[in-house]
Amino acid sequence: MPYIKFLCVSVCESWPLPDTEPLMHGVVQSPQYPQPYPPNLQEQWDLSVPEGYQIRLTFTHLDIEASAGCYYDALTVLYDTNILGKFCGHENLADGHHPGNQPILSPGNRLTLMFQSDDNNPERHQNVGFSAQYQAIDMDECSAPEPEDGSGPLCSQICFNTLGSYLCSCHHGYELRADQRSCVLSCGGGIFDETEGHLFSPGYPNPPHHAVSCQYIISVESGFTVVLNFTDNFHIESMDTEQGPNCLHHWLQVTTSDREPMKLCGGKSPGLIVTNSNTVRLDYHTDNEGLSKGWSLDYSTYRVKCPLPGNVAKGRVTPILTEYFYRDYIYVRCDQGYKLMMGGQEVEGFSTMCQSSGQWHLPLPECHIIDCGEPEPLLNGGLTFLSGFQYQYRSVVQYHCNEPFYSLLGGITVVFTCEADRKWRSNSDIVVSPTCIPVCGQPTKLISAYQRIIGGSHAPEDTIPWQVLLNIDGGRGGGMVIGDRWIMTAAHNVMNKGNQVSEETVRIYMGLTDVKTQLDSPVYAASVHVHPEYNNPINVDYNHDIALIKLQDPITFNSSIMPICLPAEGATYITGVMGLVSGFGVTETGGRRILTNKMNYVQLPVVEQETCSKSITSLKKTRDNVPSLSNNMFCAGVPEGGQDSCQGDSGGPYALRDNGRFWAAGIVSWGVDCGKQGTYGVYTRVTNYMDWINKTMQEN
Ligand code: ARG
Repeated sequence: MPYIKFLCVSVCESWPLPDTEPLMHGVVQSPQYPQPYPPNLQEQWDLSVPEGYQIRLTFTHLDIEASAGCYYDALTVLYDTNILGKFCGHENLADGHHPGNQPILSPGNRLTLMFQSDDNNPERHQNVGFSAQYQAIDMDECSAPEPEDGSGPLCSQICFNTLGSYLCSCHHGYELRADQRSCVLSCGGGIFDETEGHLFSPGYPNPPHHAVSCQYIISVESGFTVVLNFTDNFHIESMDTEQGPNCLHHWLQVTTSDREPMKLCGGKSPGLIVTNSNTVRLDYHTDNEGLSKGWSLDYSTYRVKCPLPGNVAKGRVTPILTEYFYRDYIYVRCDQGYKLMMGGQEVEGFSTMCQSSGQWHLPLPECHIIDCGEPEPLLNGGLTFLSGFQYQYRSVVQYHCNEPFYSLLGGITVVFTCEADRKWRSNSDIVVSPTCIPVCGQPTKLISAYQRIIGGSHAPEDTIPWQVLLNIDGGRGGGMVIGDRWIMTAAHNVMNKGNQVSEETVRIYMGLTDVKTQLDSPVYAASVHVHPEYNNPINVDYNHDIALIKLQDPITFNSSIMPICLPAEGATYITGVMGLVSGFGVTETGGRRILTNKMNYVQLPVVEQETCSKSITSLKKTRDNVPSLSNNMFCAGVPEGGQDSCQGDSGGPYALRDNGRFWAAGIVSWGVDCGKQGTYGVYTRVTNYMDWINKTMQEN
C-alpha cells in the first residue's frame, strides 16, 4: 500500500504523535561491544523504517564464535519469518559464515536481528560480537514484480517512483480512477486532429455510473469537412414532453462554426452527419438520474468541393475535371490572338485555387482580342483598311503613298497583318517598313504649246515645279529641286570672289511662278556644297560649275513643288534634242532687257560640242576674258540667236525629257551676252557629276 501522507496528517490531527516514530537510520551492536559478548545470550532487535522504504544493513564488524552452520553462536537476520542470513566467524576465518562487506537489503520496511550465544565458549575472551549500521532506502515500487495474487500491476499505465512511495498516472486521453491505480478513457478533453477517428461516450456501451459532462473537439485542417458516422447502437435518454420527445436531461450536442447547435438523443442512431465544417464540438451531458447507454461514432474527413469553373470564351480552362476540391488549381489560356484580362487589366497568366471555403480564389478571367495598335504612320503616305476591325488581331492594312507625288519604294503593294504577337507583319519578307519616295520629273501640268527667258514665255503654274529662285546676298539665281532636302545649282551662284558664301545668306523660294508672291516664304539652307574642283576667282573658268544646297527642313511635294529627276545611268545629250530651260533671269521685252518677276521658259536644242567650241574660239578672237569650253559643259541654243538663258538664270535647270520624265541634263552656267546670233548658252554637263552628287547627298 502506498504511503499516503494526507491520511497521516488527518490522523495526526486527532491523535498525539506516537513516540516510536520510525527512524531513518541507526546502529545495532552485540551486548558489551566492543568487549567480548557474554554467554547464554538470546537477544532480538526489531528494526523498522517508514513505509515505502527498505532497510539496508551494513556490518562494520562481525566476530562470533565460528561453528558449522553457526550452530553454537550466531547472528540471524530475518524479514518476518524469512531468514535472510545466519552469520558467525570473522573476516579472516574460513570457517563460519561471515557477511563480508555486502550490505543486506530487506524486502520491506522491517528487519529483525537475533543474536544467540551458548554457555561453552573456549575462546570467549576473543569474540567481540558484532556492530552494524542500518539506514532507510527508498523502495522502487514501480520496478517491483507484479504481485502474485492476480491483483494486476501496481499502476495500470504509468508508474512514478517517489521517495517512500509511488504515483500512478495515465496516458493522454485517459484518466486515473478513484483507486489511484487504474486508468479509464477520459471524458473528452482531447482534441481529435487526425483525418479520421473513433469516439464514444464514457463506458460505452454501458451507461456511466454517474453524471457526465464531456466535451470532444474534432478539429482538422481547414479545407476539410468532418463527417460523423454514428454506430447503430445509440442510446441517449429522451423525455416525452407536450411538444414531443425532447433532449431535456441527457443529450449529445453537435456544434459547428456556422450552424445552429444540434441536440441529439433517443434510441435511434442519427447515422451520417455531414457537418460542412472542419471543426466540430461534441458536448455529452447526462445527470445522475435516468439512463443513457451512450453512443459511439467514427468520423472521417473529405476535401471541400468548389463549383465547376465554367468556360471562358476564346480561351481554355485546364485541367478539365468532373469535380474540383480544395487545393485544386485551374489555369486559363486564351486562344491565339487573344489576351487574358482580369478586372480590366491585362495579365500574363492566370491560375486560381479552390480554397478551403469552397470558393475559387479568383473569378475566371476574360479573353479579349489583341490589338496591334495604330500601325506606324507613313511619311507622305497613308493607310487603308482591307479587313478587320480597329487594328485588332488579323486585321489587314495597306500602305499607300500620296500619289502622284510619291510612290512606294520597290513599287509593290505593301500589306500588313496584325499578328498574335501584337506586331504588324508585312506580306513580303523584304519590306521591313514601307517608304514613300518622291516622284520626279512628272509635273501635273505640261506646257502644251512650245513657246519660246530671252525669247521665251511665262511658265504656267505647276509646269516646272522643280524650279527654285535663289536670293544670295541680294543677287538672283536659279536652282532646281532634286530631293526633299536638296537643291542643285551652279557653283558660281554660291561663290563670291573665290569664297563660298555662308549658308545664312542663302534664301530659297519655290512653288510659285511669281517672284512677288514668293518673297515672303523662303526656305533656308543648312549647308552649301560646292564642287571641290570649281576654281573661278575671276570668272574666266566655269569648269565644274555645280553646287548642292542642303535644306534645313525637308520639303513635302505637291503639284507646285516637285523634284526633277537626276540623270539615269547612260543618259546622253543628243544634238538637236529640245531641252526646257527656265528661270527668273533677264528677259527682253520690246528690245528692253529687264529682270522679270515671272518664271520664264524656253525650249532650246542641244548643240553639238564641236559647233559650240568653234563659236567660242571665234569669240575669243574679238573679246578678252572669254571662258573656255570643257567636256564638263555642253551648249544649247539656236545659231540665229534670240532665244537663250541670261543673267539671273544661272543655276537653273536645262531639262531633257525621256519616257515622260524630265531629267536634269544641265545647269545654266555662262554665255557671252545673251541670245546673240552665233553664240550659245553654256550649261554644266550634269551626267559627269553623278558620282559627286550621290556621294555628297549620302554624306550630308
Ligand atoms: N552667268 C549667268 C548668271 O549668273 C548666266 C548666263 C547665262 N548666259 C547665257 N547667255 N546663256 O545668271
